Amino acid sequence: MVGHDGVGIGDFVLLEVIDKDHFMQNLEKRFSGGCIYTYIGEVCVSVNPYRTVNIYDQEQVNKYKGREIFENPPHIFAIADSAHKVMKQQGRDTCIVISGESGSGKTEASKIIMKYIAAVTNAGGQQEIERVKNVLLQSNAILETFGNAKTNRNDNSSRFGKYMDINFDFKGDPVGGNISNYLLEKSRVIYQQPGERNFHSFYQLLFGASDSDLSKLRLKNKVDNYFYVNQGNAASVRSISDRSDYKATQSAFRTLAFSDHEIDTIWRIVAAILHLGNVKFRPDNESVKLDDPGVLDTISGLLSVTNQELRRALCERVIAAKGEVMAKTHNEAQANYGRDAFAKAVYDRLFSWIVQKVNRAINLKDEESSRYRQKTTVIGVLDIYGFEIFDVNSFEQFCINYCNEKLQQLFIELVLKQEQEEYQREGIQWQNIDYFNNQIICDLVEQSHKGIIAILDEACLNVGKVTDEMLVEAMDQKLASHNHYSSRQLKPMEKDLKHKEDFRISHYAGKVTYNINGFLDKNRDALFQDFKRLLYSSSNPTVKEMWPEGAMDIFQTTKRPLTAGTLFKNSMIALVKNLASKEPYYVRCIKPNENKSPVQFDKEQVLHQVNYLGLIENVRVRRAGFAYRQRYDLFLRRYKMISQYTWPNFRSGNDKDGVKVLMDEQGYSDDVKYGKTKIFIRSPRTLFSLEQKRSRMIPGIVILLQKQWRGAICRRRYKKMKAALTIMRVYRLYKMRSYFQALQAIFLNVSSRRDFGKSLRWPNPPLVLRKGVKNLKAIHERWRAWMIIKRIPQEDWPQVRYKVKACDALSNKRSYYGLSRRWEGNYLALNNENSDSVQYNHTINNIKNKDKFKKVLFSSFIKKTNRFNKSADRALLVTDTGVYKLDAKKLNLMKRVLSIQEITGVSCSPGTDQLIAIHSSLGNDLVVALEPRDNQDRVGELVGVICHRYFEVCGRDLNVNVNMHFQCKLGNKSRSVKIELSNEAQSGMFKKDGQNVLYLLPLQNSNNLINTKQAMQ
Ligand SMILES: Nc1ncnc2c1ncn2[C@@H]1O[C@H](COP(=O)(O)OP(=O)(O)O)[C@@H](O)[C@H]1O
Ligand SMILES: [Mg+2]
Repeated sequence: MVGHDGVGIGDFVLLEVIDKDHFMQNLEKRFSGGCIYTYIGEVCVSVNPYRTVNIYDQEQVNKYKGREIFENPPHIFAIADSAHKVMKQQGRDTCIVISGESGSGKTEASKIIMKYIAAVTNAGGQQEIERVKNVLLQSNAILETFGNAKTNRNDNSSRFGKYMDINFDFKGDPVGGNISNYLLEKSRVIYQQPGERNFHSFYQLLFGASDSDLSKLRLKNKVDNYFYVNQGNAASVRSISDRSDYKATQSAFRTLAFSDHEIDTIWRIVAAILHLGNVKFRPDNESVKLDDPGVLDTISGLLSVTNQELRRALCERVIAAKGEVMAKTHNEAQANYGRDAFAKAVYDRLFSWIVQKVNRAINLKDEESSRYRQKTTVIGVLDIYGFEIFDVNSFEQFCINYCNEKLQQLFIELVLKQEQEEYQREGIQWQNIDYFNNQIICDLVEQSHKGIIAILDEACLNVGKVTDEMLVEAMDQKLASHNHYSSRQLKPMEKDLKHKEDFRISHYAGKVTYNINGFLDKNRDALFQDFKRLLYSSSNPTVKEMWPEGAMDIFQTTKRPLTAGTLFKNSMIALVKNLASKEPYYVRCIKPNENKSPVQFDKEQVLHQVNYLGLIENVRVRRAGFAYRQRYDLFLRRYKMISQYTWPNFRSGNDKDGVKVLMDEQGYSDDVKYGKTKIFIRSPRTLFSLEQKRSRMIPGIVILLQKQWRGAICRRRYKKMKAALTIMRVYRLYKMRSYFQALQAIFLNVSSRRDFGKSLRWPNPPLVLRKGVKNLKAIHERWRAWMIIKRIPQEDWPQVRYKVKACDALSNKRSYYGLSRRWEGNYLALNNENSDSVQYNHTINNIKNKDKFKKVLFSSFIKKTNRFNKSADRALLVTDTGVYKLDAKKLNLMKRVLSIQEITGVSCSPGTDQLIAIHSSLGNDLVVALEPRDNQDRVGELVGVICHRYFEVCGRDLNVNVNMHFQCKLGNKSRSVKIELSNEAQSGMFKKDGQNVLYLLPLQNSNNLINTKQAMQ
């Protein structure tokens, strides 16, 4: 709501009492509270803060973007947004008229509006639109350089009027634009009041250009050297940096596609004017002479004209009369006049040419305009000079103030008309409000025949002896009865009016006394034709382009052009017509004080502005019976929460019915009228109490919304999660099913295959089955093993186990290890192996009882060697608990050598010999040769038995070393055992070899040993 910022009242319409005191109080309160914007309905009143206020950043832009005016605290953004929204949504052209006196903040306001529009458009980030926006923004820099100046009221005062159209496409993005300039105050080029400056451009050049550039232009960076810029004696201004502004201007030139040559020419012209100001004439008989002819060279060089022709144009003029052409020399006054007129005209033309160039950069291109024809809409922004009253007011002030009269007239008409039309449209009775209609002043200036401009023109037409003084007389005669015109002649009592020199107009904004001196000249605005021809003859094409009329025939050019006054009047009428065709928005700027102070609120001065801007009337007109009006739908949306009938939705009728029900229930019916589409509320109090009730409801609603929304978010997230899980589950199932189907196909007849599917390739399992497939494979392996094993009789299973172990340890290492043989294990218990088996079994039973082992796993006669390298015949016994040595003859106990746990490894050779070493952790390994019956190989069996039992007891595999020689420990000493072939041996035998042990095998007659021999070769 507009009162949001809490400082005073955000909309004057809502003031309880509408009079000057309350109005001023509220305005001052808001100004001192830092709120510079206040509404009158949809009109924005802006008070210049004279300090940087932090209300234009992106955050603020977002706050106002796309919102209704009343939703946020008053801000110029809301006006800009509204203009943009109406244009975009309804396809209507809109305009924003910014008015107020000089220094009140109009130009700043127009820039803020432009920036806002740039910030809220081009969501698509199109390059061309970015370019257009950039050019529109940058064009300001150039126009201000050449069209603004420091005055006593404003350091950056616009000395021209500006109206800018921005074209938008159907999406509301800016696609082009056009700038119109009005009446540049060119007299400033040659004359400045004390404390004022010429246009910024001159100072930017002198302070900003490099020394080498300046010397090319024959300039020094000394303002005092140049008459045209030193009169005001105010060259340096605290708030202005000409140096950096010069850089900004140069960069803006580039952005706007000015060529290097054009930029160069612009500064040459500015320099030429500076030099022109220093041209002085001396009387010389009937004619004049130049004081310092050197300056001619400089100027002619800068403008690319000949020295001679320049001299001639300055010192004489060519006249065409009765078909003859002749030269007439100037006197000193004429020469001075000609020089100044020349300087003004050149600058004025330069400025207009720059505006044209800028337009070329932003105008819709031909092909674009045909593309956009019918489709582009426009926002116009008018930033035009404010009402001015100086100590001495001349023709320029007259024009400027007339312009303000026209705009005020437009404001009155539109605001009033709109208001009236609205009541009519809505079918609500309207009562008239008193306000000052300034049409009469507009007429005073512009009426044909009777108006001041007409009288001026008539005087100018009279070639010859009409003087400014006679002009006052003429006006006195024709306007004597006009209430808003006076002079000393008509009002002798008004002593401050000078006789025959001053006339006074009672403008809507106050009385202004104009000094007539110079009016005729300025209105005639004559520039000797010679200058136009001179510049047209320039060899610089850009200069030539600026002065096309120089090409005209001398006889043609004597035709009288339109006067400055009439041109201005026509342009104003066209402007007003243009604005009237658009939907207007107003920004009314107010200057709080004359001192550029951010804290001072000069009541008298502000009141004066409030009065002449007609702001209080504006409020009254706006209030005419009704303080507030709003569309039913919007109204209902805003206040529906305060009635149970309308919250959360009104269901028994349309919006209007809903609003009625709401207002009846709340007891406001007497204070409102119902229009066709809007509700009208008479007193602000009703609106305030509506607002209050709404504010009370809002926190609860916010919490409710938050609660609902949070819940909704969570539910949505939960649903998503559930959905994701379902998808995952189904997908997994699908993957698994497909996998199993594939597997099924592959393993269809697995049991009838010879290898039970060992060679079948398993397809790659999906992620979800990685682990499962490992188990499956294991199951398959077990099944396969079972299929193989089940064909073997159960009593053979133990030996199969040993054989598997032996295989693990020896396959590919030892050539033969008796796999095909039946492994009996306890050979010494067999009759055919051991003739003394009875005695043997007896001994075993004894040891069994004593040592508590369960079973003999292996037994054999052996030959062994010991640490003294003595070999002896023994028997070897492996039980489930350890290894025993028995005496070979008696087969009774010698001793248990090792427990299973103490075994650390087994070594044997790759051949078929029966040597085997059982390594232990006790420092005394068992190095033996088995002595089996029939030369059977039993090393494999013994390895299988030991490895199997070791694994059962220790849970890990025993290290098996297969080599022709290996290390072992005998009596705690390391010895190497080697196998060799020798004639010496009849059968395998141990032999001492120094510290080491040799195991000799016979060279021949020993088939069983062949493999060992082969392995040795
Ligand atoms: N909204 C604003 N924020 C800050 N300073 C401002 C604002 N409006 C105006 N000013 C100050 O006032 C000076 C005059 O404003 P300007 O727009 O040039 O006045 P006008 O165009 O009405 O003559 C500016 O140079 C600036 O210093
Ligand atoms: Mg301005």
